[in-house]
Amino acid sequence: MPTPATQSPGHARLARRSLEVITTEQAPSGAYPACPDYEVYRYSWFRDGSFIAEAASRGGAVDSADAFHRWCANVVTDRADRIGRIVAARAAGEQPAEADLLPTRYTLEGADTGDVGWWDFQTDGYGTWLWALTEHLRRHGSDPAPYREAVRLTVGYLAATWDLPCYDWWEEYREHRHGATLGAIRGGLAAIHAAGLDDTGLCERTVTRIDTLVRDDGLYDGGLAKWLGGDTVDASLLACLTPFASVDPAGPIARATLAAIERDLVEPEGGVHRYPQDVFYGGGQWPVLAGLLGWHYARVGRVDDARRELDWIASQAADGLLPEQAPGVRLLAPEHLARWEERWGPNATPLLWSHAMYLILAHELGVLV
Ligand code: BGC
Repeated sequence: MPTPATQSPGHARLARRSLEVITTEQAPSGAYPACPDYEVYRYSWFRDGSFIAEAASRGGAVDSADAFHRWCANVVTDRADRIGRIVAARAAGEQPAEADLLPTRYTLEGADTGDVGWWDFQTDGYGTWLWALTEHLRRHGSDPAPYREAVRLTVGYLAATWDLPCYDWWEEYREHRHGATLGAIRGGLAAIHAAGLDDTGLCERTVTRIDTLVRDDGLYDGGLAKWLGGDTVDASLLACLTPFASVDPAGPIARATLAAIERDLVEPEGGVHRYPQDVFYGGGQWPVLAGLLGWHYARVGRVDDARRELDWIASQAADGLLPEQAPGVRLLAPEHLARWEERWGPNATPLLWSHAMYLILAHELGVLV
């Protein structure tokens, strides 16, 4: 049962507002823009969008989540030829052509952005999409048939690309293979397998290969590393614990990962930094990560800690809108703030993904029923 503290009118109001922001900003195509008021975020990312759809699905905006998932399925099936070329190249032991690799973000109409400058090759979003789709179909008892072809193509794409270095969740460090990326891919493939949507065994085989690689190369000090062979942590690794459960969320690897994140990235009053060397907008605290941390706390029974993160996210809202990051009590690299503000203006608000993670955590804690 939700406690009175989590049912406070403030949280109920912000939860309603969050759902309204998500559904109002959704494009007629079904795509969610990352942020409507921030020039370079007027596009739809599979990563952001999948979590946004999860929030809509939990919050009762079933049509909104349906529309996003249909949009994703169309984006993928429209690129069947490209995916075929990638799979063939990898099967022949070759590197796929750079121009064939799927981007991380699309126009709201589902076209490639045509940008040469974006940090496009990121595979995690496609895994996150498979996970969010299966959650949504299960939650609402929906028929998976319209998604079969898109799922088949996405599984093939991920099975062909999962072990290639690519940009991480933060669109950085293309030369590495990232723990959080592998966790998202594993989460998606495992979800498709568990839902009985893969009759080829490809999901299961790829999951086993990911687990072997992470066990051999992806750990340091007993926890997950930011990238294979690395010796630092990143808060995006929280997703490997909850929701993807790519390691046992209550087991020793999860505990060591969480302890490193709490030691290096969590502020005592709430709020979470991305990684120790972050300089983007000075390296503030991200509501998205506070939501992820709270979600994990809620799953492992640390309800008071989860509520602290929910309260902290709510305290960052101005006029009911949540930013991408809040300077909060501490910037990791304050000397870098001005240069980002000069380049792109104040940090992105409202960030739909921030609203989504707030909603998901509110749902976990019983604020949304
Ligand atoms: C973040 C990405 C996010 C994108 C759109 C970037 O600054 O690093 O994780 O997908 O913004 O919100």
